[in-house]
Amino acid sequence: MKYVDTSAETAYNKHIADAILRIGVVEQLLWGQAMDALKLDTVLLSEDRSCLEILDQTLLPGTVKVLRIEKIEDIFEAIRFLRVRGAPAIGVCAAYGIALTASRIETQDYETFLTAFREQKNYLASSRPTAVNLFWALNRMERTLLSHADQTVDKIKELLFAEAQAIRDEDVAISRSIGEIGFGLFKPGDGILTHCNAGTLATAKYGTATAPMYVALEHGMTDFRVYCDETRPLLQGARLTAFELHGAGIDTTLICDNMASTVMKSGLVNLVFVGCDRVAANGDTANKIGTSGVAVLAKHYGIPFYVCAPSSTIDMSLATGAQIPIEERAASEVTEMWYKERMAPEGVKVYNPAFDVTDHSLITGIITEKGLCRAPYEKAFRELGIE
Ligand code: MRU
Repeated sequence: MKYVDTSAETAYNKHIADAILRIGVVEQLLWGQAMDALKLDTVLLSEDRSCLEILDQTLLPGTVKVLRIEKIEDIFEAIRFLRVRGAPAIGVCAAYGIALTASRIETQDYETFLTAFREQKNYLASSRPTAVNLFWALNRMERTLLSHADQTVDKIKELLFAEAQAIRDEDVAISRSIGEIGFGLFKPGDGILTHCNAGTLATAKYGTATAPMYVALEHGMTDFRVYCDETRPLLQGARLTAFELHGAGIDTTLICDNMASTVMKSGLVNLVFVGCDRVAANGDTANKIGTSGVAVLAKHYGIPFYVCAPSSTIDMSLATGAQIPIEERAASEVTEMWYKERMAPEGVKVYNPAFDVTDHSLITGIITEKGLCRAPYEKAFRELGIE
């Protein structure tokens, strides 16, 4: 396993506070009003193409705030500090972000434009290491540029905006398709467990692990219940998934991460859907820390464990999950965040990997937008044209 240490910026809260001062607020709603998360846009390009509009997920569920972000440093910061997070949403943000920042490169010379674009691309690519969608989206944007070398720089800038919009629009369709396939795997009365937030907030719409639930609602099926792991240390399950699903009127129960075994053992859960940040060719899957533990439990209790994966999250260049870089984040996320006062002794060592890898042998199936894959996964991916 390769670890990438992003914990150097330990003053997490201070950093966020400083950034908020630098970024304008265009909308503020207080939690408590009727909230339909499916109507919230995770990240958009403003109509006049002057900035990105990012729903600040660090403030949810208490505050719904949309940030207007213009500078590349702030786009980088928004990704690194999880204002926008979740593998597909990070990809969409990076695509819009580089379209925006590339549009400001002042040159009419193609080679000069390409060099400046690549500098921006490398910078944004260094914001987070694990979700492959970030690199996938930036590479796709670069291919757009390279395949139009015969065009003027102004025309290429237009094409980059169009490509970013296509990535966003495709993401909605991909999630909807994963939802339809996942919906076919459950029946009225089922109890579903999910970990972290692979919800609409993690994508352009629908989410991946939550898409089957939203599609169920669209089909008029409401007779199912969902258990959300709270997902320490950043509480994506409590703050984001519970916010979304409860707001959508789904029967939602929040549990601490260490309660998953109990709800499984007592028969309350008969299906697990999770998202992913990167899937290796053999099906090993990196997702939010704690996912592999849920998979081990599901295997123990004989509960089907499904990974919901847009094909853009499948990295066929990596043979196994051992090659997936795992982000390690600040100690303060474990010792201080969410608490009124520090909840660990000063100086104690903290280990805070943000993701883990679930072995493919624990996975019942991987749901892509192109179809449901079963082991052996590499063969199944290739049969669906995922290369
Ligand atoms: O650190 P995060 O909040 O970006 O981690 C998100 C997850 O692990 C999600 O499960 C994954 O990105 C899939 S989102 C559809």
